[in-house]
This record gives sequence, C-alpha cells and structure tokens, in this order.
Amino acid sequence: MKGVLLAGGTGSRVMPLTAVTNKHLLPIFDKPMIYYPLHNLIRAGIKDIFVVTGGEHFDSVGRLLGSGKLLEDVLGIASDSINSIAYGVQDRAGGIAEALGLAREFVGDDNVTVMLGDNIYGQEDFLSRAVKNFAYGAHLFLKEVPDENLYEETDKGRRAKYGIAELDKLEHVLGIEEKPVNPKTNFAVTGAYIYDNDVFNVIPNLKRSARGELEITDVNNHYIEIAEAGSSVVTDFWTDAGSIETLHRAGVLVAEKRGYFNF
Ligand code: DAU
Repeated sequence: MKGVLLAGGTGSRVMPLTAVTNKHLLPIFDKPMIYYPLHNLIRAGIKDIFVVTGGEHFDSVGRLLGSGKLLEDVLGIASDSINSIAYGVQDRAGGIAEALGLAREFVGDDNVTVMLGDNIYGQEDFLSRAVKNFAYGAHLFLKEVPDENLYEETDKGRRAKYGIAELDKLEHVLGIEEKPVNPKTNFAVTGAYIYDNDVFNVIPNLKRSARGELEITDVNNHYIEIAEAGSSVVTDFWTDAGSIETLHRAGVLVAEKRGYFNF
C-alpha cells in the first residue's frame, strides 16, 4: 500500500492566512496541519508517501517534511516507519482526483490510500484496520455530522459543505452527492480513501465538474456503481480545517485531546 497526501488547492477560504503560505502549514493547535494526516498514514503502516502541493508553496512543504527521516523523531514514531516521501506539483487546483492522478507512477502496481491534507481525525489509527483488510475496489470513511456543522452559506444559498452519502438500512453507501442543497443524510464522506490500482484507469475518464475540477466524488460513485465500495464510520471526532471556522474548531478539538495525541 502506498500513501498519497494532498496539500494543493488554493486555500481561498482562509485568506489572508494563505496569502504567502500553504494552508496545510497553518497550525492546528501546536503542529502544522499536514502532520496530522501524515501521521494517520504512518500509523496505518504506510511507509512510502507521495505529497502533492501547488507550485507556489512547493519549497516550504518540502522544507518541512524533507525525506521524512527527520520527522520520525518529531512524530515520535519508530525509526523505520518512513521509507520515502516524494513530491508532485499540481500547477492549478484542478481537483482532488486530478491531484491523485499525479501519483500514478509513484504508486506503480500497488493500492493507494489517499488523505486530504486538511482533514483532522481524533483517532490516530482510524485507517489501520481498513488498510490491513483492503482487497479491492474502494473504501470510504463516513462521519455523521450534526446539522449545525453540516452547512455553508454560498453566493447561491445554503448547501452541505461535504460530499454526502446516501445509505441503505444496513449503512451501505448507495451514492454520494457533492455539496447538495438538500442532503439525504448527515453522513459526510471524509477525506480519506483507499483505492485499488484501477483508480488510475478511472481518473482519465472523468469529466470536469461545474467548478472545473476532477471530483473525487465521481471516482467514489464509480466504485459504488460497480458495487466495489466499502465503508466504515469514523467513531472519534473528525473535521476538515479548510475554513476559518473549521480551522479554529480543529485546533480546539486537538487541544482538548492533547494527551491523546502521541506526537
Ligand atoms: O473534507 C472532506 C471533503 O473534501 C469531502 O467531503 C468532499 O467530498 C471533497 O470534495 C472535499 O471537499 P472540499 O471542497 O472541501 O475540498 P477542498 O477543495 O477544500 O480540498 C481538500 C484538500 O484537497 C485540500 O486541503 C488540498 C487538496 N486539494 C484540493 C484541490 C481542489 C489538492 O491537493 N488539489 C486540488 O486541486
């Protein structure tokens, strides 16, 4: 299993904090945001990780993470936990699926676990079991989000701010809608995904969405349509940290659980 950590995008929702830096370098309590998803990948036993950033902040992300070797001390992990960190540049924010496509050569014939660089999970090893048991298709991680945290206001009115899963009675995912105005459930599709190698054949066939991006939701709906998508529900807290409000909330949640985070 290879890891892909996505730290591109424009960070427009947290301007001016991102005027001169990459969003994923902003602090979540006492650590740079990107440490948290990186740590999740490492805790799942993933040793080779491909980090995607935009060209404008490529240097600072590279300086922070380096080859990964110096991070082993910082993150309090065993000295053989990281084999390699490699980097890819996404020239424009063309979407999460586009960014993942850049990792094709790095991943080779392997399966891949993808983490969005702005997603913060309260359970450090939430990925481990699913990574260990993964065989084929896709695996998604859902989180039930209360109404007060589910919506955002836009120019066009209120809508859910996440991909929202429709579920059957047994909590199987029937489909996902990206940021729907009338979400069918409160289950957000969080920013961690496991895929088999076929994902690199799915991505080139995607069409750009209205926001001009190759959407990870379209990749996930493909796997749902061919009945190869599994899922689990995240039990501890989860939040993205991509807006001022959620950036703040993520910091507070981590601060409250400080003793729990081992790094
Ligand atoms: O946070 C979970 C949500 O993330 C999911 O529920 C949605 O289904 C998914 O589309 C995504 O929604 P956002 O619109 O919030 O994604 P955002 O544009 O904020 O990008 C999330 C991360 O992905 C960001 O921290 C950096 C990375 N990214 C994003 C884009 C658009 C890239 O590396 N390249 C990109 O082009």
